[in-house]
Amino acid sequence: MVNKLSKKDLLTLDEYTKDEISLILSVSENIRTKQKNGEMFVPLLGKALGMIFRKSSTRTRVSFEIGMFQLGGAALYLSPNDMQLGRGETVADTARVLSRYLDGIMIRTYDHAEVEELAANATIPVINGLTDFTHPCQILADILTIKDKKKVLKGITVAYVGDANNVCNSWMFGAPKADLNLRVASPKGYEPDPAVFARAKKSAADNGTELVFTNDPRAAVENADVIYTDVWVSMGQEAESEKRKKEFDGFQINSELVRLAKKDAIIMHCLPAHRGEEISAEVIDGPQSVVFDEAENRLHVQKGVMALLMGNK
Ligand code: CP
Ligand code: NVA
Repeated sequence: MVNKLSKKDLLTLDEYTKDEISLILSVSENIRTKQKNGEMFVPLLGKALGMIFRKSSTRTRVSFEIGMFQLGGAALYLSPNDMQLGRGETVADTARVLSRYLDGIMIRTYDHAEVEELAANATIPVINGLTDFTHPCQILADILTIKDKKKVLKGITVAYVGDANNVCNSWMFGAPKADLNLRVASPKGYEPDPAVFARAKKSAADNGTELVFTNDPRAAVENADVIYTDVWVSMGQEAESEKRKKEFDGFQINSELVRLAKKDAIIMHCLPAHRGEEISAEVIDGPQSVVFDEAENRLHVQKGVMALLMGNK
């Protein structure tokens, strides 16, 4: 077991080892226990996080900002429209300047390459708060939620039903390293990125877990322990909205599909949800749904990530 992270940044879970993921989870659980016990824990006293958002956010923004506050530091919301970044200042120069003021940067943007460029030019940690490619903080919180609910990770099967998007990519990178089996079901034309799938397949083989893809949501969900979905139209895909809604027909998580899973299966969604599209109201608001515990775990996991990356090493 490692006691620190070898990376400066958190860009994708692909770059993290199994031990590092376990470390983040255990540090996050400790921080959560302290908070629940009303114990102050301020390893980031006097430190500051800049948060660059090119896309909307509820959970990521609030959990990072409040997480930073609870760890003793401050967080600054930075909109590219208000920064010189929006007027042509380069990402590299922005990274160099922000490194002189801040102790960490969280960024949510479209192009993953922008996050890589920011990280390459920043001397401080850069944390990916979602790109079109991945959403690592989400999947760390999801793994913690499964651990909370199922008590074990090894042998648990997650069925991801829906768009093989950023959240799905992070699931493919994260599941094998968390000892989780993963089945992905997406419609034709929305299958996982072959390169990500190939890497994840190798990771699954190395870690002794299963990873399968199918176009049949029923096959994915059969006997699963966890059913997971995400929106059919991600941020930036609004123009494809009508087409996607048609093409994802049959991929809704509803009672009929849930019945195929284990009786004690839990229902997860990274949120925001669109009831009546990727998930029925009955299921997301029903007794098997854990979506709000899952959302809460974003706070705890990101505090773990920030304490590890931005705390004194
Ligand atoms: N799940 C998630 O990242 O939510 P927000 O878009 O609200 O941050
Ligand atoms: N796939 C979604 C996730 C939102 C948290 C999106 O990118 O919009």
